[in-house]
Amino acid sequence: MREEERPVFGEGTHGISRRELLRRASAAVAVGAMGRLSLGETAMADQAAAAKGGGAFPGKFRWGCATAAYQVEGNDTNTDLWMMEYLQGSMFKDHSGDACNHYHLYPQDIAMLADLGFNTYRFSLEWARIEPEDGFFSNAELDHYRHMLEVCREHGLTTMLTYSHFSLPRWFAMKGGWENSQAADLFARFCEKATRHMGDLVDYASTLNEPDIPQLLNWFNLPGVPAGMSVAQMMQAGLANVRKQVNAPEFSSFFMGDPQRNREGLLAAHAKGRDAMKSVRPAMPVGFNLAMSDDQAAPEDSHLEEKRADVYGPWLEAARHCDYLGVQTYSRSLVGKKDLPPPKGAELTQTGMEFYPECVEHVVRYAAKEARVPIIVTENGIATEDDSRRVEYYRRAVAGVKRAIDDGVDVRGYVAWSLMDNFEWMSGYTPKFGLVAVDLKTQRRTIKPSGAMLGNIARRNAL
Ligand code: BGC
Repeated sequence: MREEERPVFGEGTHGISRRELLRRASAAVAVGAMGRLSLGETAMADQAAAAKGGGAFPGKFRWGCATAAYQVEGNDTNTDLWMMEYLQGSMFKDHSGDACNHYHLYPQDIAMLADLGFNTYRFSLEWARIEPEDGFFSNAELDHYRHMLEVCREHGLTTMLTYSHFSLPRWFAMKGGWENSQAADLFARFCEKATRHMGDLVDYASTLNEPDIPQLLNWFNLPGVPAGMSVAQMMQAGLANVRKQVNAPEFSSFFMGDPQRNREGLLAAHAKGRDAMKSVRPAMPVGFNLAMSDDQAAPEDSHLEEKRADVYGPWLEAARHCDYLGVQTYSRSLVGKKDLPPPKGAELTQTGMEFYPECVEHVVRYAAKEARVPIIVTENGIATEDDSRRVEYYRRAVAGVKRAIDDGVDVRGYVAWSLMDNFEWMSGYTPKFGLVAVDLKTQRRTIKPSGAMLGNIARRNAL
């Protein structure tokens, strides 16, 4: 079979050829002049900028897309979240079900990512698959993830592997999750096993995804939270419901539980997890991924510095002992006593955030100054049904990253969230973050204009 005829992504049980994929990608660019932005015009502007030589990113810049196991694999039935989805009064809007069936379709999905022009894939392990019971490690599942890394290698991709992205093995959550005094040791044991099995194929390892979320929840202003309640309080009410129904008074999960105890557990788990990885592969770069808003002081009574110290402080300190820091941002927050609602009249995304693509430039500048290690943007993106807004968002976001790099900020890569529309945790399948659309019934993938546009920037390594 000729290279360009090799099947690259799933349409139900059928693959389609590489040639067809590329045809569709160019067609997507051609029809991209929908909504407010003409891709034809912007593509010409891109070429002009690149021709002037002003738009080039540093050599070896990492351009990628990210996913997380629970959000795309489907049927992660041994996790705490799967169990919680099926309880009465569940906080999950949808069932994750088959999700994007990435567990089976990953060879095609990875080929699609590479064909779009990206050189990096960030994905995560599902700990609950690898260690479905306390102390039992499945070689078959370890092999599965090793094979994902091998497929990345076959496509010449840099691999970024997150060891824990929110979902937990059910047995671990039942014992108190990150609040359990044994949590760090249990996590380190998993990190050691996984690194031994596949660490030789990992270019950037991350212990934890967004371990500062328990604190951020105290500051967030999100729609749908009952008046007078913080998001964290709402989560804790949900936790009480889960504990009662599963008859496990110790049960705790990433999004829920006591924020302070969760943080202590996560900090210890990160440190021990990193040491375990390094004990097996000292040269493997290890970091973690921090959730950061572009925090800006509200005109009155701003608690900006208090928020930064509370949410990021200990993690920025931890980052100084890492090989890199992954930063993840989606919008800005105006910080008063807590985060204020977006300004009146602001354009909002599907997750109720302000459309604010400049956040990534501001966040990389702040993070690099504080952490003093190389920065990789490991998530940035927007939830919208209107892909022309995503095109606009990414165009402005990467231009901001470029300005920061030109000013000497050490940014090594830019990874978009997300490769495909996927299961957005408690909000289910409604928010669309993907560069590629997924038909959940047929598993057909359709490249959006934004995917073709960002992939082209990646391929050119220039604006
Ligand atoms: C998480 C992703 C999530 C994304 C969009 C990040 O907080 O790491 O799992 O889907 O934001 O909300």
